[in-house]
Amino acid sequence: MTDINPPGEIILSSETLQKRIAELGAQITADYADDPPLLVCVLKGAVMFLADLARAIDLPLEMDFMAVSSYGNSTKTSGVVRIVKDLDIDLAGRHVLIVEDIVDSGLTLSFLRKNLSSRNPASMKVVALLVREGRQKADEELAYIGFEIPPDFVVGYGLDVAEVYRNLPAIHSYTP
Ligand code: IMP
Ligand code: MG
Repeated sequence: MTDINPPGEIILSSETLQKRIAELGAQITADYADDPPLLVCVLKGAVMFLADLARAIDLPLEMDFMAVSSYGNSTKTSGVVRIVKDLDIDLAGRHVLIVEDIVDSGLTLSFLRKNLSSRNPASMKVVALLVREGRQKADEELAYIGFEIPPDFVVGYGLDVAEVYRNLPAIHSYTP
């Protein structure tokens, strides 16, 4: 805890997040009306987003959780992605909607896409709460995007620095 700085200014307030999530939920409800999705939450960062988004979708959806690790306890990517916790539900024939907190380099997502598509889902799309402007190395196609944000590191609403600040209700900037 000792070399963790206090969070910076609010970039996205709780109200702004909730308003956008309601819009995404309505859009997903319309798009998946005939084929309710299986939400795949990428732990731990997407947990707050999954909880709010799922309640904004008016369909008999299912949810499952997966944990991958691409960052150590720092604010720089290691480029290495590994599965820390796998899904319980079989994806075969399912309409999978991957719920991500933030797409930065896109390495995590391209790994997930390859890994999950080998399990024969009927369809697979991605909803990302945040996308870093101009920072996607892999050219990832995202069906639903909450917000595009500038290059600065952010914390709160699930996003951490060395495992802290996930519980902040808003998204804040963070200076390492
Ligand atoms: P990518 O593989 O570079 O796209 O990194 C994506 C993952 O890195 C996200 O799912 C987050 O867990 C983490 N990450 C990227 N940027 C930030 C940030 O600004 N704050 C906290 N975590 C981040
Ligand atoms: Mg994540």
